[in-house]
Amino acid sequence: MSEFKPLVFSGVQPTGNLHLGNYLGAIRKFVALQESHNCIYCVVDLHALTAQLVHDDLQGQTRSITAAFLAAGIDPKQHIVFNQSRVPGHAELAWIFNCVARIGWMNRMTQFKDKAGKDRENASLGLLAYPSLMAADILLYRATHVPVGDDQKQHLELTRDIAQKFNIDFSKRIADTGLGVDMLVGEERVNGYFPLTEPLIEGPAPRVMSLRDGTKKMSKSDVSDLSRINLTDDADSISKKIRKAKTDPEPLPGDVEGLEGRPEAENLVGIYAALSDTSKEAVIADFGGQQFSAFKPALTELAVSVMSPISAEMRRLMDDPAYIDGVLEDGGDRAGAIAGKTMNDVKEIIGLLY
Ligand code: TYM
Repeated sequence: MSEFKPLVFSGVQPTGNLHLGNYLGAIRKFVALQESHNCIYCVVDLHALTAQLVHDDLQGQTRSITAAFLAAGIDPKQHIVFNQSRVPGHAELAWIFNCVARIGWMNRMTQFKDKAGKDRENASLGLLAYPSLMAADILLYRATHVPVGDDQKQHLELTRDIAQKFNIDFSKRIADTGLGVDMLVGEERVNGYFPLTEPLIEGPAPRVMSLRDGTKKMSKSDVSDLSRINLTDDADSISKKIRKAKTDPEPLPGDVEGLEGRPEAENLVGIYAALSDTSKEAVIADFGGQQFSAFKPALTELAVSVMSPISAEMRRLMDDPAYIDGVLEDGGDRAGAIAGKTMNDVKEIIGLLY
């Protein structure tokens, strides 16, 4: 039985500074997956228009995320790195998915509710339809695996719902055109055009929390810069932010269960584990019973040793925008070739003349 070829896709928005949450929840995983998979990594500039339409320097932001990808170790020759707006298929397929998805599905998205706030009537239509563009990003390449942080889980479930509804609604046309692929859905063998994409969310830090409040996600939009470590922070800032990170008065527990109900301790242990490619268990085995006054300097040293080379390389790359633009153009050409084939198939399946 034929199956979809494994392919990794993920995206990062060019809004604000990247932080440790983006790095540990997403970019570090992007780098690791290059060893085992073909990967497509996208700076999703069209997504940046949904919450705020006018940006001061969207091109610069797009280059800066690209620089972060490359500085972290993504190889743009072996894999594909590009910005979303270069490939028209994203917006085109998103339109079709707008007609597949139901308004009720979109209204249930917690990120939409958070971002739209109380004044929902005044949110852009793009913000409501955002998950349908995200589904298009992934399914335009019929990607099978998507590494993301925990906050994107609901959007990926919706991506599966859209793929499944398309496969069912057009099952006859998919069979007639022979464009489908056999796949297992649960126990059942079905034929469909789009795969049911798997999220890759595991690891010790799928949700990095604010350094000021262990119950809040580390976020670009937090007013306090002390709440996050930015990818561009120097060693002094990293050291200061970890020193000032909120903790509780107890020493680290003797086992992982002891982290329960201690969100700040759990967050710092998870960060340490993710930065050193180990588990929380392994970190507790080393530091269990120790005071934060001993753990924090070790965490600082580790964070600086991992982040400093990345920020130095990012700065170097940002001095060469022509090189970055060349990477995006080449990646866009290669992504566009795959996307063009999918769009022709989709038009054939739907019955649009092309
Ligand atoms: P964005 O740009 O907000 O974030 C980029 C990636 O960083 C992860 N992330 C975190 N992970 C752990 N802890 C945190 N505190 C944290 N904050 C952010 C996000 O989960 C994400 O993986 N909708 C997406 C972008 C997108 C996309 C896609 C992703 C558009 N199309 C297709 C995957 C596939 C977003 O806004 O991510």
